[in-house]
Amino acid sequence: LQSITIRRPDDWHVHFRQGEMLANMVPLTSRHFKRARVMPNTDPPILTGAQALIYHGEIMAVAPAGFETKMTIKVVPETTPAIVREAFGLGIDAGKLYPDGVTTLSANGVRDFKALSPVFAEMEKLGMVLCLHGEDPGEDVFCLDREERFLKTLQWILDKFQGLKVVMEHLSTAEAVYVVEHFPTKNLAATVTPHHLENTLNDVIDGGLRPHHYCKPIAKRPEDRDRLIRAVTRLGQTKFFLGTDSAPHYRESKECDCGAAGVFTAPLALPLLAQIFEENGALGQLEAFTSVNGANFYGLPLNEETITLVREPWTVPDEYSGVVPLRAGKEIRWQVASDLG
Ligand code: DOR
Ligand code: ZN
Repeated sequence: LQSITIRRPDDWHVHFRQGEMLANMVPLTSRHFKRARVMPNTDPPILTGAQALIYHGEIMAVAPAGFETKMTIKVVPETTPAIVREAFGLGIDAGKLYPDGVTTLSANGVRDFKALSPVFAEMEKLGMVLCLHGEDPGEDVFCLDREERFLKTLQWILDKFQGLKVVMEHLSTAEAVYVVEHFPTKNLAATVTPHHLENTLNDVIDGGLRPHHYCKPIAKRPEDRDRLIRAVTRLGQTKFFLGTDSAPHYRESKECDCGAAGVFTAPLALPLLAQIFEENGALGQLEAFTSVNGANFYGLPLNEETITLVREPWTVPDEYSGVVPLRAGKEIRWQVASDLG
C-alpha cells in the first residue's frame, strides 16, 4: 500500500502555550488537523469562559482559515458551578482537571475530588465533558503507579455522576486501558498519544537520559505500550481516540537540572501513527482513531475534508522553533501528501 486517504483528523489534546511559542505552534497543528482541543494549563491558567474566549482569539489570530479549536477551562479547587455554567454558556464544552502537582503547571491543582462534587454535578447537568489527567498526586505514591492508583478516583466519579462524560487523557498503562474498555458506561473514553504508542521507560532512561522523551504520565513497560497499541488498533473500537498531548518546551527547559515534562509531536504525529498502525497491520483502523471516535464522543460532526498519507520516508527535523520533536533526526516511513517537497 503506497497511500491512504482518511477523513481529516482532529487532535483532542494539545498544548499551544502563549506568545511567540503559540504563534509557532498553531500552524504546525493546523497543517494536518482540522480541529484541536486546547489545554488550559497556560501561565496564568485559563480558569473562566471569558479567559478561554480571549485565548481563543489569540489562537485564531495566528491560525489559517478553516482551523477550529475547542477550548477548555481548567478545573481547580476554586472552580464553582457558576463558573462552569457561565463557561458552558460561552461555548466552552469541556473542563480539564489536573491533580495537584502531577505535571507541567499543575501546582495548586485538585487533591480533594469530593469537594468538587457540586462542580461535577453541574457539568453532568450541562453536558460539559470532564477531561482528566488521571494520576494520583499522593506524596506516598511511586511515580510509575500514579495512573493505576488514580483508577479508584475515576471509579468514584463515574459511579457518583453517571451522566457525566469523562475523557481519561493520555493513557499509559494496561490497567487503565482495561478500565476504559470494560467500565459499563458510554460516558467514558480515552485519548492516547503517539509517544505512548512508541516509547517505553527504556526510551526515557535506559542507555542514556532522554529529556525529550520525558513526559507525564511517564512512558511505562513494553506490556503497557503493547496493550495501548492493541486497544487503539482493534477493529471497531470506539472508545479510544487521538489526543497528541503535543507539549512543546524550549530545548533549554528540557535539557537541564530539573527538566520540564512534555513531548512535542504535532508535525510528526500523523506520519508516526501511520507507521505504527501499518506495523500492526491496522492501517484500516487509523481513521477511526484519528478522525471519527473523538468527534463522536464529543457529539460533533465528522470532518468532511480528507487528508492523504503517502509511504514516502522523510527525516524529522532536529528542531522546530527551538523545540526538539519526538524522533528528531530519525526517519519516518509515512508523510502527509501535502508536505511532500
Ligand atoms: O508531559 C506533559 N506535559 N504532560 C502533561 O500533562 C502536561 C504537559 C505540558 O503542559 O507540558
Ligand atoms: Zn497535556
